Amino acid sequence: MRRNSLLFTAVVLGWFAGSHAEFLSDACKVCINAELYPPEIDYRPYRFDEKDCNSFQSSVASLLNNVIDDNGGQHNFGFLPDPSLCEATKVSICGFGFLDVIELLQSKIDENAIAFYDAVTGGEMCHPKYDNYGLTITVDSCDNILEQPPGVVRECGLLPPPSINCTCNTTAGISPYIVSSSFREEPSSNSQTALYCFDIVVNKDILPSTCSDIDILRKVEFYAEQSLKSFVKSFRLSPNGGSPTTISPSWGPTGSNLLKASLYWTKDQATGASVCVEVKKPMTMLELCGGWKCYVYLYNPDLKCCPLSTSGP
Ligand SMILES: *[C@@H]1O[C@H](CO)[C@@H](O)[C@H](O)[C@H]1NC(C)=O
Ligand SMILES: *[C@@H]1O[C@H](CO)[C@@H](O)[C@H](O)[C@H]1NC(C)=O
Repeated sequence: MRRNSLLFTAVVLGWFAGSHAEFLSDACKVCINAELYPPEIDYRPYRFDEKDCNSFQSSVASLLNNVIDDNGGQHNFGFLPDPSLCEATKVSICGFGFLDVIELLQSKIDENAIAFYDAVTGGEMCHPKYDNYGLTITVDSCDNILEQPPGVVRECGLLPPPSINCTCNTTAGISPYIVSSSFREEPSSNSQTALYCFDIVVNKDILPSTCSDIDILRKVEFYAEQSLKSFVKSFRLSPNGGSPTTISPSWGPTGSNLLKASLYWTKDQATGASVCVEVKKPMTMLELCGGWKCYVYLYNPDLKCCPLSTSGP
């Protein structure tokens, strides 16, 4: 298969290259890939979309197609974006390099691995949608002549979650309820405010534990800067199959930085439900959450389980 495609390449290149027959035997097919590894229990499935793929392919093409060596010599590689190489967990772009400059190509790939990573994640490699996911940049080349680029270390966990004063179990994923990894802004009926909406996801496949059999989602708590309390106007709660209700915000004791709403939703009501926070402009939800990402706890009726989910804009 590889030989055939190489032969085909050689023919095509030969057609382009005219009489430079000595090049042909040196053509090496090179593919750069971004691969996504979902966690074993995939609570909030995230997959590459068309935008991720386009961004990755165009970044690789623009960074590798014209490579200048230390002596100012320009080398052209033919990396061509191809929508058929966009898969849900793997996006690739392939092209041809020549063996005489493969070393140069290797160093450019190594140098740009972080840029490729940024391109496929839109510069958001620490967004909660990638929590617990593995992401690597890999290279396929003829006879494995190219080495894998250095792994990129995602240093996202530098800020620990805020500590909350409670004795419940905050381990992520222990109950069926989790908040979507992205929250969205919706227009509010009041032009002075914005609504920030968090969807509730209900999981069927979770590891059995004392928190796994919870039928009722009792309440939600957001970590929020209490000094900004006056900007929080209301909650709009929209259970599945019910009409939205608007309630006043309530807060934990001074200094707790916890903004909360009672829900008492069944699993059916919680499936696809949303909790929206109405915030007075120019304050934003992210600023209220501390500027980094939002930390959300979902409680069971006896308040012993309050798994933490993170969510970003
Ligand atoms: C934690 O909560 C308990 C019970 O509500 C309260 O008595 C205690 O003062 C709180 N501790 C802190 C550090 O806020
Ligand atoms: C929280 O629950 C999980 C799942 O049951 C358990 O493995 C973990 O030890 C618990 N953590 C604490 C602090 O109780």
